[in-house]
Amino acid sequence: MRLFFPLLYGTDPGSVNVDLVHGPKAGFKIIMGGFSPANGLLELFPAMEYVPGFAWASKKAGAALLEACLGEIDNRLEAALRNPSWNFTQALYERRPAEMSRKTLCIFMMELELTGVMTIALSTCNIVKMAATHPGEMRRVQAELDTRVGSDRLPTVEDLPHLYHLHAFIEECSRLHPVFPLGVPHAPTQEDEYMGYRIPHDAIILPFQYGLNTDEATYKDPMAFHPQRWIDDPSLPPPAAFGNGKRLCPGQPFVSDIVALSVATTFWGFALEDLGVTRDSVSSNCLLVQEIPLSHVRHICRSSGHLATIEREARKKMLRTGPWG
Ligand code: HEM
Repeated sequence: MRLFFPLLYGTDPGSVNVDLVHGPKAGFKIIMGGFSPANGLLELFPAMEYVPGFAWASKKAGAALLEACLGEIDNRLEAALRNPSWNFTQALYERRPAEMSRKTLCIFMMELELTGVMTIALSTCNIVKMAATHPGEMRRVQAELDTRVGSDRLPTVEDLPHLYHLHAFIEECSRLHPVFPLGVPHAPTQEDEYMGYRIPHDAIILPFQYGLNTDEATYKDPMAFHPQRWIDDPSLPPPAAFGNGKRLCPGQPFVSDIVALSVATTFWGFALEDLGVTRDSVSSNCLLVQEIPLSHVRHICRSSGHLATIEREARKKMLRTGPWG
């Protein structure tokens, strides 16, 4: 987020966490509300709107939520346009097609924000949760980091190609906990046919990524969290996490190093511990978006050597770029 918001809106990275995530009007939380189980169900089964007792999932509530989201985005758009620093919003605004309304522009910005920020945050949460609940697997990655990096410096992008267990861990998390278990819904613009099935115009198509990732014909013992499978068999097909075909996620190359480096740095410096019963998230794999609560995860610095390196690097960075660099 501290990378993406400055790029998107030219926001001061220091204000991002406070205003947008934890603040009372946290836009991110409002937007996440749109993916709540209630709204997800309504999206999947629009007829539920007419079922008595499902007032909470009414179209009116959905429309109000969209308005709230667009209101937040409109504020950010306005601030970004006034911002003297370069930002993607200004570049987009200057090049927007003449017929593009302000509302359409906001919807586009909202999609970018959701796809760029929420996805990275949620996939990192999934990884942290799996590390806390599978300490043996986390320690295997840490042993690899200790050999390659040691405790006197932080991991860097140059280390990433050598960290096989790290990549296997991340791959296994995306397999068992894709951010979008049901994929992103699509609808055909005209009637089609696939393997003898008629697909009507406008039908909602859900690419069931979680189902593909837990198919035992492809992945042996599919429900087990077993990162080693990626090292034992490098020819395994990558998990479905970024969609397919023409609409495949364009952010994939952008995120892979970001996620790998942030996980490498976290595992390098901290032992993650599950303090309580972290809910078994498999039940939520039938939602549009999977979010894992981390309230029961504690992080402890791994050694005084790691702590000294973290403090030294933090001091160097603050001297170079100020507290928010
Ligand atoms: C771990 C991180 C991410 C995951 C798991 C992810 C996943 C996905 C998925 C499943 C889709 C739907 C693909 C489909 O319709 O078949 C998608 C679309 C998209 N993603 Fe990502 N994404 C991630 C990060 C990003 C980032 C960082 C950006 C922007 C920099 C981004 C930009 C987009 C855009 C613009 C689309 C819409 C593409 C279209 O509709 O043609 N994503 N993403």
